[in-house]
Amino acid sequence: MSTRPYYIAGNWKMHKTRAEAAELAKTLAVQLKDGKHKYLVAPSFSSLETVGAIVKGTNILLGAQDVAAEEQGPHTGEVSVLQLKDLGVHTVILGHSERRHVYKEDDALINKKVKLALKHGFEVILCVGETIEEREAGQAEVVCESQIIWGLSGVSPGDLAKVTIAYEPVWAIGTGKTATPEDADAIHGYIRRVIGRLYGNDTAQKIIIQYGGSVKPENAAQLMAKENIDGALVGGAALKADTFVPIAKFG
Ligand code: PGA
Repeated sequence: MSTRPYYIAGNWKMHKTRAEAAELAKTLAVQLKDGKHKYLVAPSFSSLETVGAIVKGTNILLGAQDVAAEEQGPHTGEVSVLQLKDLGVHTVILGHSERRHVYKEDDALINKKVKLALKHGFEVILCVGETIEEREAGQAEVVCESQIIWGLSGVSPGDLAKVTIAYEPVWAIGTGKTATPEDADAIHGYIRRVIGRLYGNDTAQKIIIQYGGSVKPENAAQLMAKENIDGALVGGAALKADTFVPIAKFG
């Protein structure tokens, strides 16, 4: 346990119609009202306006799951920082493993998005994590290190205050396999040392590092009890209040 605040975020991925998203957001607004941590929900672009109107003025922040690397222009199918700002979005999730591995986003593109989002005043959750092959080859630490160094390249110390890191081992996402709290904490500690090397120890002690990958009500408290784990980025279990609320109010 540390003195850093906990930050629990729900990534709804490509789920829910507007009506379904509204229902969940309304329930969370009521049930998390007395929650003690920092909270965020990230619905699909199509539900941002609806969910934004519901969480406005509550203790739940509005997040987007991605953003375009350019401010505007001929980019069919993309959504820009200006459009997200217009919708009241507070935070952008970037570098999610589904973006990296399914949609082939590389570190250079992710870095461009990180810098653009920060320039426009958004907070950023930068996701990093190794595949099962990389873990088995003993590469988990170097993969995360390289994704952090590239992802944060050119980000000033001042802007880093608006960045949260999410360690999401790819093999644990949506698979029901969670990293053990000890294994996750070891990588979190490593990431914190990388941040320390890049930005100094004070900054490293302050940065929030979430864990993501099959976080459930049953394992949230053990993960959060670890020194370097400061919250969670939750996918599947974020889709229902019955599972997200106990995670958000762990302990
Ligand atoms: P999961 O997803 O909780 O369903 O494993 C986590 C994520 O992808 O952010």
